[in-house]
Amino acid sequence: MTDYRTGLGWDNHRLAPGRVLILAGVVIPHETGFEAHSDGDILLHAVTDALLGAVALGDIGMHFPDTDPQWKGASSDRFVRHALALVQAKGYRLSNVDTTVVLQRPKLKDFRETIRVSLAELVGLPLDRVNVKFKTAEKVGPVGEERSAEAQAVVTIVRDTNE
Ligand code: C5P
Ligand code: MG
Repeated sequence: MTDYRTGLGWDNHRLAPGRVLILAGVVIPHETGFEAHSDGDILLHAVTDALLGAVALGDIGMHFPDTDPQWKGASSDRFVRHALALVQAKGYRLSNVDTTVVLQRPKLKDFRETIRVSLAELVGLPLDRVNVKFKTAEKVGPVGEERSAEAQAVVTIVRDTNE
């Protein structure tokens, strides 16, 4: 038998001048970036929550409290690696990752492959199991007014059982 599980993740951060806009570890040149305790990488935070969700281990704040100084300015790939290790410790392997970044500006499509490759390398998947989608917010609401950005992620994990 094969045991499949799915996890869902979402994150958002405010955008502010003089900060770094970083998605899956890829720095996107722009006049604003994420205001956050860590590097604010919303895409990796959403993937982390999706991984934790798939194994019913709560959320990112439980594992990496933003009051804990060891996570201040932390590179978010550490969160993903830790969540993936928890998934693997339960006997699952990651099957695929699908994501959406909602950002009004700048256009991200020229960075699509770089972001995708970076995410695929981080989670140890071939490229054809990793997808990144981009959406504007049609200039409406905090994302559309460029005051924040959001990311969503869905993962599927798989485990072979003897049943
Ligand atoms: O939000 P909207 O549907 O208008 O986006 C159209 C396309 O523009 C998306 O499918 C995506 O390929 C691209 N896009 C982008 N960077 C963004 C937002 C959207 O490249 N920040
Ligand atoms: Mg549209």
